[in-house]
Amino acid sequence: MRPLEPAWPNNLKRAGLYLHVPFCKNLCSFCPYNRIEYDEKLFDQYERAVHEEIELYKSSLDGCEFVSLYIGGGTPTVNLNGLIRILSHLKEAFALSCDICIELHPGNMDTECLASLKNVGVSMLSVGVESTSDHILKTIGRNHDGETAIDALRRAVDVGFDSVNADLMFALPGQTLQDWEDDLRAVISEGVDQISTYPLFSFPYSDLGQSQRIRQVKRPVSRVIRAMLDLTQSYAEQAGFNRCAVWSWLKPEKKKFSSITRHHYIGFGPSAASMTGTDFYVNTFDVRAYAATLPNKRPIVLSMPVDKRLEMAYWLYWRVYELKILNNDFQDLFGSTNTLDSVFSKVLTPFEMAGMIGKKNGGYYVTESGAYWIHRLQNEYSLNYINRLWGSCRREAWPSEVFL
Ligand SMILES: C[S@@+](CC[C@H](N)C(=O)[O-])C[C@H]1O[C@@H](n2cnc3c(N)ncnc32)[C@H](O)[C@@H]1O
Ligand code: SF4
Repeated sequence: MRPLEPAWPNNLKRAGLYLHVPFCKNLCSFCPYNRIEYDEKLFDQYERAVHEEIELYKSSLDGCEFVSLYIGGGTPTVNLNGLIRILSHLKEAFALSCDICIELHPGNMDTECLASLKNVGVSMLSVGVESTSDHILKTIGRNHDGETAIDALRRAVDVGFDSVNADLMFALPGQTLQDWEDDLRAVISEGVDQISTYPLFSFPYSDLGQSQRIRQVKRPVSRVIRAMLDLTQSYAEQAGFNRCAVWSWLKPEKKKFSSITRHHYIGFGPSAASMTGTDFYVNTFDVRAYAATLPNKRPIVLSMPVDKRLEMAYWLYWRVYELKILNNDFQDLFGSTNTLDSVFSKVLTPFEMAGMIGKKNGGYYVTESGAYWIHRLQNEYSLNYINRLWGSCRREAWPSEVFL
């Protein structure tokens, strides 16, 4: 990826929008996301620049249909009034009538905050519970206890959003299979619509990785991690949830809460990525550099042209992650002359023979064994792609290139 100037997304027909809010009250050492400690003055600069970035894109996205707005972080509600102003601007600038999804931290979502979010049109929430056990939350450096997290989840469910997801983390230092079962039971019994269960990734550039403590992090042994995964699957299924992605389980008839699975999207804010079908690019991660670049030009740090084959591979990657690869979806995007088999049979057949994917009416699905191997592979992907790109962009505001 290089500092190229990608084309404006004038021809986008359907896209998602993403907003990144890079501030948190407490910086968790395991966290790989682009976030810095909350500072009111810096937030003001950020907010001014986001409004300008929205204005910059407005005319080029005229005529585009927006399928969702996803707000991630950081902690998006760290300055609620600022967030509501940005959200209102996005809604008005792009005439949004789609789902609005937001990530919440248990310490920044009081009852007033939840009511304001509902009022401004937020329809789907994800709450970062992580664990319900106090000693584990303390070990991973979270600034809330288990009771606060469960109370936050309960209040979110009670408000009546279209969907509430709970994020949990497993394979954490000191976590036993019993701790994990307690976490699953606690969040499911609060009546959530979806659970997302992430194994702890230790990114070398994260604070945890940088401090060398990465080697001292004593994760459960792989036999226990496998047992945690198996327990999640059986526990969620017994509770009436269906697996909807490698690490997510969803109640029937509910809409999936998901950040990364729209095919085309435009991102606002520092470190936000955009995928237009012809280009994939990311904004500078540095909040000051981001604010200083706007309103004169887009704050894009690195970009990569995307040809048809790469766009198809990108689509396939995320469908595999969602465990469902449908021919109709593929043809809707890439035209009726392209079928999954004509384009990808050489890639898919060996996995089918190995029992990792199966053929089903209209496409392919990922089997349980396939999902386990994606889970194992995901760490490689994180290290080879996300770590290289995010690591460089976190070190420097304007790196000259990154090889993926
Ligand atoms: C941006 S955070 C969620 C919102 C909020 N900032 C919070 O922490 O509650 C997104 C989620 O990613 C997961 N996550 C963060 N760092 C992780 C890591 N190193 N390994 C695995 N999952 C991680 C956590 O489950 C977290 O809730
Ligand atoms: S896990 Fe959430 S609260 Fe913790 S630093 Fe990352 S984004 Fe902030």
